Amino acid sequence: MNKKEYLDLISEIARHDALYYDECNPEITDFAYDELVKKAKEIEQIHPEWKPSDSPLEKIGESPSPGFKTVKHRYPMLSLANTYSEEELDDFTKRMQKLLEREHVDFFAELKMDGVAISVRYEKGKFVQALTRGNGKEGDDVTINISQLANLPLQLKEPKTVELRGEVYLPIEIFQELNKEKEENGQEVWANPRNAAAGSIKLLDKSEVKRRKLHIVFYDIVEIEDEEIKRQSSISSILTRIGLPTFDQQDTARCKNPKEVLEFAEKIEKKRPFYPFQIDGIVIKLDTLEERGFLGTTGKTPRWAVAYKFAPEQAITTINDITVQVGRTGILTPVAELEPTLLAGSTISRATLHNQDEIDRKDIRIHDTVWIEKGGDVIPKVAGVDFTKRDSHSKAWKMPSFCPSCQSPVVRLESEVAFRCLNSYLCPAQSLRRITFFVAKGAMDIDHLGEKIVEKLLGAKIISSISDIYKITSSDLEKLEGFKEKSIHNLLDSIERSKNVPLARFIFALGIKYVGAGGSEILANHFKNIENIKKATKEELLELEGIGPKMAESIVEFFSKSRHVQEIEELLSLGVEPKAPEEIKSGHPFFQKIFVLTGTLEKYPRAEAAALIKQRGGKVASSVSKETDYLLAGSEAGSKLKKAESLGIKVLSEEEFDSML
Ligand code: IVH
Repeated sequence: MNKKEYLDLISEIARHDALYYDECNPEITDFAYDELVKKAKEIEQIHPEWKPSDSPLEKIGESPSPGFKTVKHRYPMLSLANTYSEEELDDFTKRMQKLLEREHVDFFAELKMDGVAISVRYEKGKFVQALTRGNGKEGDDVTINISQLANLPLQLKEPKTVELRGEVYLPIEIFQELNKEKEENGQEVWANPRNAAAGSIKLLDKSEVKRRKLHIVFYDIVEIEDEEIKRQSSISSILTRIGLPTFDQQDTARCKNPKEVLEFAEKIEKKRPFYPFQIDGIVIKLDTLEERGFLGTTGKTPRWAVAYKFAPEQAITTINDITVQVGRTGILTPVAELEPTLLAGSTISRATLHNQDEIDRKDIRIHDTVWIEKGGDVIPKVAGVDFTKRDSHSKAWKMPSFCPSCQSPVVRLESEVAFRCLNSYLCPAQSLRRITFFVAKGAMDIDHLGEKIVEKLLGAKIISSISDIYKITSSDLEKLEGFKEKSIHNLLDSIERSKNVPLARFIFALGIKYVGAGGSEILANHFKNIENIKKATKEELLELEGIGPKMAESIVEFFSKSRHVQEIEELLSLGVEPKAPEEIKSGHPFFQKIFVLTGTLEKYPRAEAAALIKQRGGKVASSVSKETDYLLAGSEAGSKLKKAESLGIKVLSEEEFDSML
């Protein structure tokens, strides 16, 4: 390699840095990126004189973002060196043995979360500050956004001053919901949960941050008042004690030699597809802090820790065809029909191609040989094309000009990446998706009415809109193939029962842009009936905690359309009578019951558990007394549990609580 090639290589690295950190939209995988860095470092060993003073290899992370104050870190935020093979990992552990001059070295191993590094500070037990890593020395002040996380307590259980390091992440399921919503709204989707989290903490609208239900997990304490920490392995119990989320004990290990480290890596790699969040490997650290001090750091990474990154979950296959799906809101999504192949434990035969831009950017064509990977999405995606295997006659793929379902012209709206069929209520594919969404679980929840049956009903012209569902008669169904007395009864019975759906689910079922299950719950609790929501102005909506400008605008727009209002009126006249939250509450086992919460709750942070109780008409008290009805006890419950037991108060585990909800 000559000097020019080296300089090109490092400017390419700088370009990828900007894509990853600043735009949250990387073009290449972490693995491919690390390969570039490795190559550049090898050259720098041979030609240190070529190295520019502002080499991207010396920098950590992103440039400051507009809209956020830059703040200096009290303690630098370091990064980790990566290893990719068992040999490299073994080199690290053996190097530690050598440097410490003994066989027995205590290692601590834990998950490497694939999220965004955050420094968090509490003073006297109160959450006061959160900073991004930035360049390691100073980062962006994202305190307000971090205060909106789903599982971050604003108050510790002890009035201590602490500074912590953790990772903000988006659970896979929430990521999938948000991406689906983006796709339905014609917006560009996120490549993976990490990008979604990174983009979200830089939002300038805190209610939108809250809506995204980001989570945090802590893995380090860099300062703690009146306490001395000697080992990493004692950190997690301190975190739990003061009320902060950390790793499950099964996902960490103390290892006393390189062999045990490898065993832990293998165990976690097997569990990897089953975690509800994304990890990209494990982190191995020296357990004793004193030894860390002795080894120190090299510029941006410590000598005493290393990341072991798992190989990406990828497979190679060919694209047999590219088909187009028409969604609930008319968006056309291209899908690659693949030669079936095994990926992370399941057979894959389809991959989403998202939109035309994505296909153009990656230059994906029919008959190409491609790498597919799991990016956290329900269906995997095409990571890249093996151009060496491309058929010389292949042509670039273009979105059809007419809707494959109703043949009306396809348009691309300004400011959207998506192409849409605008024939909303007359396009069979859109009706199918809209009705299927309306009847699905979480919405009207009509059993025995899946997509296949909706398709049959539409095909036989028994229904054409959602309200038609409530007009179906047994003689309609008798005409349909596969329907017998019992199945007719079952379906009509489920339809009848759905008439008294909770208001929140009815709102959700309407499929209003940006209004998910959480937003629907907020609207139902505040407005009590659909008539009031219909009348609400944007200003009134904005006063509600958890409703931001985008959602408010979309609600007002939805109810301004006479078609929507008429359809709702039709539903109500056919006997659909959504139940107001109060009516539900009085029938709920929590109604007027007094709860006390104690211990560490795994599934719901305290505040969330309390909100769930209150929504159902229950009350939350801070101490156990004779008046208490239930004690909800998490792990490590202490004196409150003893007192409740002595008073004979019913103690609920999290599972019991969950099933009563
Ligand atoms: S330790 C000096 N532990 O990975 C210690 N980092 O590639 C540096 N990360 O910046 C961090 N899980 O954002 C550590 N269990 C874990 C981690 C973890 C995820 C992230 C973190 C860090 C990056 C380094």
